[in-house]
Amino acid sequence: MKRQGVEHFLRPGTLQLQGQPPLSLYVHLPWCLKKCPYCDFNSHAVTGGVALPEVAYLDALRADLQASLPLVWGRRIVSVFIGGGTPSLFDPASIDRLLADVRALLPLEPLAEVTLEANPGSFERDRFKAFRAAGVTRLSIGVQSFDDKALQRIGRVHDGAQARAAVAEASQAFETFNIDLMYALPGQSLAQLQADLAQALAFQPPHLSIYHLTVEPNTAFALAPPSLPDEDLASQMLDLISACTTTQGLQRYEVSAFARPGHRCRHNLNYWQFGDYLGIGAGAHGKLSFPHRVLRTVRWREPAAYMKQALAGNALSAQHEVQRDDLPFEYMMNALRLRNGFLVADFQARTGLPVSALQATLDAAQAKGLLEREGDRVRPSARGFDFLSDLQAMFLPR
Ligand SMILES: C[S@@+](CC[C@H](N)C(=O)[O-])C[C@H]1O[C@@H](n2cnc3c(N)ncnc32)[C@H](O)[C@@H]1O
Ligand code: SF4
Repeated sequence: MKRQGVEHFLRPGTLQLQGQPPLSLYVHLPWCLKKCPYCDFNSHAVTGGVALPEVAYLDALRADLQASLPLVWGRRIVSVFIGGGTPSLFDPASIDRLLADVRALLPLEPLAEVTLEANPGSFERDRFKAFRAAGVTRLSIGVQSFDDKALQRIGRVHDGAQARAAVAEASQAFETFNIDLMYALPGQSLAQLQADLAQALAFQPPHLSIYHLTVEPNTAFALAPPSLPDEDLASQMLDLISACTTTQGLQRYEVSAFARPGHRCRHNLNYWQFGDYLGIGAGAHGKLSFPHRVLRTVRWREPAAYMKQALAGNALSAQHEVQRDDLPFEYMMNALRLRNGFLVADFQARTGLPVSALQATLDAAQAKGLLEREGDRVRPSARGFDFLSDLQAMFLPR
């Protein structure tokens, strides 16, 4: 679609945003060795022996970024997240070029967090150090499980030994790193989850993300669903996760995220606090604030189409302004994921809505015991955290 000039987004409107929130950059690298049967991310299997079109893709990313600059003029980037797909399939020299292009075009905060997603088995030791040298400050390793059988059942290309080697290498090369785990896996018992947690925690990870496996539409698991733990077992699993992480000094600061002090993911925090992000790369989503509107953007999803369109200056496949009535729900979909919730003043600053847009629902949710309020702060109660989607649904437009 044709890009509109920045004047279009600066025109008057009914929302009154107060200043612009922090700006992050998301870069999507869409290839994997193989498509996992549960995955609905924009990831595409590399076909047998064919090399990744790294240079062509980097050229497209640079063109995309260059064409996006007028929308973020004068703003600094607080964090970069290179996600996928499997970004660690890219050569460290390519990541080096990517970050050089980013730095040449956009001012990065001096201590900007730069995360790269890596999969076990898609690298050797030297690659990790080379990613660090290229300017990556934080590695996020997609472990999922350390159990060979569980890994096979969820179609992963790596085994437990490769997962352990990857985490050990990350802890050597990076001051801060994350382990991604999933639970409620096909056939998983409480004891097996405990073993996974024990192995993850033995590495003393500064950050742990633990997701409940969900069967997403249009995935191989949706077509042929595996047998999964029932709700009771899944809830016992969550209790176990809470207990084990707490004793190891990790704090659950978001539904699925646990961190030691000083190691929360600044990039994801910016999403959850309804900050801005420029999203470049195939299928990447973005959100940008202007004085009177919030804009959401999407790039072309197919890598080949994206590369062609981005080079022609047309990386965007769709964009829309978030409607006034949808803003409270969109805000809560993010902010209520945080254990510590949000400040009413931040809601006003980032949505441009008056607090009256929220008051009746806040009162109703508090009366139901789903929310707690302390001065200007609003946070989900323990019950609200357990029934988060019910709580969030209260903010849907009527
Ligand atoms: C962007 S994904 C992919 C990262 C990396 N390519 C990998 O697979 O290891 C980030 C994380 O989302 C989680 N995830 C992906 N699909 C999921 C699903 N269907 N249910 C729950 N978690 C999922 C996994 O833990 C994964 O590591
Ligand atoms: S490796 Fe990660 S992004 Fe790729 S298909 Fe598997 S889950 Fe999806």
